[in-house]
Amino acid sequence: MGQNLYHYDQVESTQQIVHEMAKQGMPHGTVVVADEQVRGKGRMARNWHSPKGKGIWMSILLRPNLPPIQAPQLTLMAATVLAKMISEESDLKPQIKWPNDLLVHHKKVSGILTEMQAEHDQIQYVVLGIGMNVNQDLSEIQQEISHKASSLKIESGSHWSIPKTIQSILRQFEITYDQYVKEGFQQVKKEWERYGYKIGEEVTISTMKKTWEATLIGIEPDGALKARDRSGNEEKLYSAEIHWGE
Ligand code: BTN
Repeated sequence: MGQNLYHYDQVESTQQIVHEMAKQGMPHGTVVVADEQVRGKGRMARNWHSPKGKGIWMSILLRPNLPPIQAPQLTLMAATVLAKMISEESDLKPQIKWPNDLLVHHKKVSGILTEMQAEHDQIQYVVLGIGMNVNQDLSEIQQEISHKASSLKIESGSHWSIPKTIQSILRQFEITYDQYVKEGFQQVKKEWERYGYKIGEEVTISTMKKTWEATLIGIEPDGALKARDRSGNEEKLYSAEIHWGE
């Protein structure tokens, strides 16, 4: 992973570049990194602020031999990769907020955006985007989100080398991906749950239809979050917001 790494100073979005590369037939493991994105994309059509030299703005091309239904497993796998990297490189205790936000001290430092192209019930390719706030100072975090977003530097108190951190992510990615391909989702699930935020705890869950209190139990092989309400009913959630302490 990363033998085929393209570095750009400024791009609209590394996702868009990797989609184009995928269509041109570039191989599995191709990586695009940019110092700055002027139109970084987050989940749910949100913008992803990607200021120059302050973070990791990277997309990885994957060509897994999987049915589309298993694509969420790749996102969960990538979240464990980032959690393991942060644990290995610092004293921080990262947590994963379902489905794939990386939190440190309850604040988001990184997010993952997985986009898939599938045909005839087979994944053609996946573009897995990783955005990680690395060296922003407190004053550089957008004010509207500063209560819930942070950077590795703010939380650890020290500057991180971006090239070294990219190398650590790619090394960890390769190990975890190979293990996932050989052994399946079970190990990823175990690790995800180890880092899982609020797993075993009661939170407030909101969907389009309702809001209720439930205990988070863990994740399902299809990437769903399992929760148990106060009457003991279990539910699988595919799209929901989790709140706590409000
Ligand atoms: C999220 O909403 O939490 C996901 C954010 C993903 C951002 C990354 S930065 C690299 C890649 N390029 C993009 O435009 N988005 C992803």
